[in-house]
Amino acid sequence: MDAAAADDVSPATEPEPSREPEPEVTAAALIAGHVHRHGPARFDAVMDLALYHPEAGYFTRAVEAGRRGDFITSPEVGPLFGAVLARALDTWWHELGRPDPFVVVEAGAGRGALAIAVHRARPACLAALTYVLVESSPRLRSRHGEHLPLEHPSHALLPAAPDPDGLDVVAGRGSGPRFVSLPDLPALPVSGVVIANELLDNLPTRVVRREEEGWAELHATLAGTGPALTECWVACTDDEAAALDRTLPPVPVGVPVPLHQEARRWIRRALDLLTAGRLVVVDYGEPTTAELVDRRPDRSWLRTFHGHDRGRPPLEALGQQDVTVDVAFDQLAPPAVPAPARLRSQADFLRAHGIDELVEEGRAVWSERGHLGDLVAIEGRSRVREAEALCDPTGLGGFLVAEWTVP
Ligand SMILES: C[S@@+](CC[C@H](N)C(=O)[O-])C[C@H]1O[C@@H](n2cnc3c(N)ncnc32)[C@H](O)[C@@H]1O
Repeated sequence: MDAAAADDVSPATEPEPSREPEPEVTAAALIAGHVHRHGPARFDAVMDLALYHPEAGYFTRAVEAGRRGDFITSPEVGPLFGAVLARALDTWWHELGRPDPFVVVEAGAGRGALAIAVHRARPACLAALTYVLVESSPRLRSRHGEHLPLEHPSHALLPAAPDPDGLDVVAGRGSGPRFVSLPDLPALPVSGVVIANELLDNLPTRVVRREEEGWAELHATLAGTGPALTECWVACTDDEAAALDRTLPPVPVGVPVPLHQEARRWIRRALDLLTAGRLVVVDYGEPTTAELVDRRPDRSWLRTFHGHDRGRPPLEALGQQDVTVDVAFDQLAPPAVPAPARLRSQADFLRAHGIDELVEEGRAVWSERGHLGDLVAIEGRSRVREAEALCDPTGLGGFLVAEWTVP
């Protein structure tokens, strides 16, 4: 979520994000009640509740996630990111032998901007495509049908009908695209692609730090008699400390380190889903934990966003702001999960899949049709600015793209 990029592309008159009135139960009160009853709450549990509680969570209450919301993501910059992904999908579809159905699962789909852009780009795989939007927030999920012809999951996810005559054209084949919206990853095995843009940074993350002796973990406790929370560090058990010594690189005493346990679990589930194909994860972060903790103090890996700007500290304004962590990609590795086959910057990924050609096409359209000033012409011209934002090495272009291939 790049607030700077948001400034680049959002009209100055963009309205403030619409939010529901305060819910009857607030995330702060729920966590305070929990701490009161059970003692300090681990940070990942606080993050989980603050973002995803069914009534009080930030994403549960969010009406928008994107341009009119508190942050901007690559699909929300404009349709170009989806147009490049459409080209990548065609490449991967051909590599897989053009399966039909070709299942693409987009996890953490937000309001569906990426799926809409892929649909509009009309890739060659479209007639074979079953596109599954997975989004845990019911409110964001309810937006999926606004611009996409959603089908009932049981229809779209059934395997294609058997071909009694051995002919190529069978019921169900070539009848895509099919779009389906689900709250969690599908249970059926998938031959195709699982993709997640800016999902891992929002998954609940544990935070630990090395002490003079052993390790301690970040918890939230009550600051006083009211519901306000403050941080406290609870000593890890000897077993936990030994595991941290084994798995984390040497880090200075007192420096907080993220532990992406939930992200690893999610990667494992996504890989288990795939019978053949690839898992593609795009997010901000660093290749290694060491690089993440070695950052300048003003580039903290734990951040909050509200209204396109930095929010309050993570234990404040719970449920009212996005809480996000930069990802240390070396933690998405063995023994918990296989290492990604490839890790590169978003700019390199987009160039490898033809963003420059799409920009040139856009320029040509603008020079032919600019005098008409119609939507096609304007979209052509806006590709130039979109590509700048998407490939900016200090912003979205510096995000990392990790790819796992199966088998
Ligand atoms: C930062 S937003 C990214 C939205 C979209 N991918 C984009 O790039 O614009 C992260 C989204 O992931 C959703 N999410 C978080 N955990 C999830 C999970 N386990 N399964 C599905 N969606 C999840 C959140 O509700 C939120 O909409």
